[in-house]
Amino acid sequence: MTAGFWTALPKPFFALAPLADVTDAAFRRLIATYGKPHVLWTEFTSADGLCAPARKPLLRNLLYTEAERPIVAQLWGATPESMQQAAAVAAALGFDGIDLNMGCPDRRVEKRGAGAALCQHPGLAKALIRAAKRGAGGVPVSVKIRLGYTRNDIDTWLPALLEEEPAAITIHARTRQEKSDVPAHWEAVAQAVDIRRALDSATYIIGNGDVQDLSEARQKANETACDGVMLGRAIFGNPWLFNAHRPRQTVPVAERLRVLAEHITLFDALLGDVKSIAVMKKHYKAYLTGFAGAECLRTELMATHTATEALNRLRERSGD
Ligand SMILES: Cc1cc2nc3c(=O)[nH]c(=O)nc-3n(C[C@H](O)[C@H](O)[C@H](O)COP(=O)(O)O)c2cc1C
Repeated sequence: MTAGFWTALPKPFFALAPLADVTDAAFRRLIATYGKPHVLWTEFTSADGLCAPARKPLLRNLLYTEAERPIVAQLWGATPESMQQAAAVAAALGFDGIDLNMGCPDRRVEKRGAGAALCQHPGLAKALIRAAKRGAGGVPVSVKIRLGYTRNDIDTWLPALLEEEPAAITIHARTRQEKSDVPAHWEAVAQAVDIRRALDSATYIIGNGDVQDLSEARQKANETACDGVMLGRAIFGNPWLFNAHRPRQTVPVAERLRVLAEHITLFDALLGDVKSIAVMKKHYKAYLTGFAGAECLRTELMATHTATEALNRLRERSGD
């Protein structure tokens, strides 16, 4: 197994989840500045797309800075040939790790046989890991999964994947059918750690699902003995999430507004030509909450159509 940067991480370690259209190049840059996790993931990126001639806009998903290291590129797909090529692209771009998405419930992804559909085809899932390893040329390959499709199949699904010796497996502790509709089953993460131990595997187990902050992440790691915990939705509006010294409630409103302005400016500069500014609206909602006048400012920002307009509204509010 190629373990690469994984062995240098503390135990437990805390990871930023891949969140499509959320943890893009702009937001990751802010997160690395204001509260850096031990490891960051990119948004998932189509392996087939990366192999296509028109891949240029997609490469923007894989934009990162040195400050974000160690950073893992997440790929999705169901064709071993494309996975091998895409892994080679990610390795050439200098990523510290390559992760395969085997948990996405999106119909468009599943229709291609990828994402969560792969837990019903462990043979193909294994072939994809082998293909990614061939393309990765020594960069460690990891996998992100759910517990199963309609039920917890971790006792068969996990051993199948462990045979391919991925460096790490992140377990989003819900089934495909459950999507995000029920509380995450953290007892299944403990079950996965037991399976890993019984098989004497060196693959790291990362637990994921519903964790709100670092203290809860530490508690989950203690309870389950997993190696690391991944946090996703808790990052919305909170680039300080992984900063143990800076809980968001202690960050003055003026600073929150300044960081939101920085976020909008970065988004416009890095992604404005390939993504709609509407992507930022979920961030407006998340930053602008919990202080006097937040609702009014949020309504104003939600009505804007360009980065400049949004920045002007924020400037008016802060009296610049
Ligand atoms: C908006 C959004 C986008 C997501 N995009 C991805 C993705 O690109 N790749 C992936 O493996 N999981 C993706 N997920 C799943 C998250 O990485 C994570 O597994 C899930 O949100 C549970 O963790 P949490 O409760 O800490 O958010 C996404 C989830 C959300 C809400």
